[in-house]
Amino acid sequence: MLTGSNKVLDETRQGEATTVEGEWKKNGKKLYLESYGCQMNFADSEIVASILAKEGYETTSNAEEANLVLINTCSIRDNAEQRVRNRLNHFNGIKKRQPDFLIGILGCMAERLKSQLLEEEHLVDMVVGPDAYRELPGLIEEITDGRKAVNVLLSREETYAEINPIRLNSNGVTAFISIMRGCDNMCAFCVVPFTRGRERSRDPESIVREASYLFQEGYREVTLLGQNVDSYRWNITKKGEITDPNAETVNFAQLLEKVALVNPLLRIRFSTSHPKDMTDDVLHTMAKYKNICEYIHLPVQSGSTEVLKRMNRGYSREWYMGRIDAIRRIMPECAISTDTISGFCGETDQDHQDTISIMKEVDYEYAYMFKYSERPKTLAERKFEDDVPEEVKQARLEEVVAVQRASSLKRNLVSVGQIFEVLVEGFSKKSDEHLFGRNSQNAVVIFDKGDFKPGMYVNVKVTDCTSATLMGDVV
Ligand code: SAH
Ligand code: SF4
Ligand code: F3S
Repeated sequence: MLTGSNKVLDETRQGEATTVEGEWKKNGKKLYLESYGCQMNFADSEIVASILAKEGYETTSNAEEANLVLINTCSIRDNAEQRVRNRLNHFNGIKKRQPDFLIGILGCMAERLKSQLLEEEHLVDMVVGPDAYRELPGLIEEITDGRKAVNVLLSREETYAEINPIRLNSNGVTAFISIMRGCDNMCAFCVVPFTRGRERSRDPESIVREASYLFQEGYREVTLLGQNVDSYRWNITKKGEITDPNAETVNFAQLLEKVALVNPLLRIRFSTSHPKDMTDDVLHTMAKYKNICEYIHLPVQSGSTEVLKRMNRGYSREWYMGRIDAIRRIMPECAISTDTISGFCGETDQDHQDTISIMKEVDYEYAYMFKYSERPKTLAERKFEDDVPEEVKQARLEEVVAVQRASSLKRNLVSVGQIFEVLVEGFSKKSDEHLFGRNSQNAVVIFDKGDFKPGMYVNVKVTDCTSATLMGDVV
């Protein structure tokens, strides 16, 4: 999902982080950090905040009073990059008034465009790729001497395992934990392998430690993040060989179990699963532990086997439906969401109808639906023509969205009358009299605030719904 958001570090959280990491002297400088793109980018921003807090930077929610602005960017579709370019115009305006104001571009656009970005955007001072954040303090030193700084080296090992993220914009209840970085799949449409580099998994001990720490701090839900969590592996090579015979081997199902055992009151979610790699072991582990949420995001992309082949996704429509059947068999209550792309190279009307029919067949709880956007250097850009006209892409997308809206509403109507355990996250956007939380299936549930507080579990009987939300009463 693409969201731009101001990331604010409040005083209390910074205070807590200080006790973990030791004394951090403030340097009188202020950092404004803005993030775009996927959850992994938001998790990376929390690592960046931690690295710079040690250097004395205090974060601010007001760009105008910052000494340093960092934009953590996304390249997944062209419009994601355009949004960042527009924001840059705004920051450039501030820079013209305050010449010592520094602007750095982080993340996937930094990695994709490298020093070209400095040529195209004259007021940018620094370009730093996703594996180079430890170098930020040195790079900032370089620019304070009036030069520009670039580091876009990708790493085969970096996982920032031992860095304790500073939780930005936190509700104090839910948090992300990165469990791996990069991606070794080569989906033909996707820029991520180029911007994030090779896949690598993070030490399971450091993951469990982070989850335990979060639980002690009052958090009640963690989301384990990776581009393809099913290929998480520690001490096992891709071919299945053990790297260190004296150390433990851990696959994704085993990692899930370890995190689930931290505390039964800590909920576990994860994203993203890949249909070609999702094993029954993972499903059985989910079914075994009540605190592993019954929700799977399983991007289908297209319902046409021909298109899936061109996309290089590594599965057919039948294989995908086999995975859906496995989920339903092992966890009948499990919610499933997906991602779709409309108008990929060579997509015919029939291919599009296949996407419509698979969506009706699965009847997803939720979907993120996109129009195909050609990305430089990808397999699709090199091999196929982006031949579906924009109006056709748009019309197909609208049809897909309409089908999904009907499914979401139908799914929510089934929940009316049922009782769900809900983890309270905070106040409802629309009213101070209502709280919101999620059930295990990831549906948003709204109810009267009563004496309940974020972080509590409550049982809510659903009385009404829209296609997006459930409303109910605590019982
Ligand atoms: N690793 C995840 C997805 C990462 S990107 C996975 O494999 O499922 C999130 C979503 O963006 C993808 O699932 C896809 O639906 C969409 N996406 C990726 N590249 C795209 C492109 N070039 N054009 C349109 N949508 C794209
Ligand atoms: Fe991109 Fe495919 Fe990797 Fe997902 S699995 S990040 S879509 S290459
Ligand atoms: Fe975007 Fe990079 Fe994530 S391209 S979706 S921020 S991995």
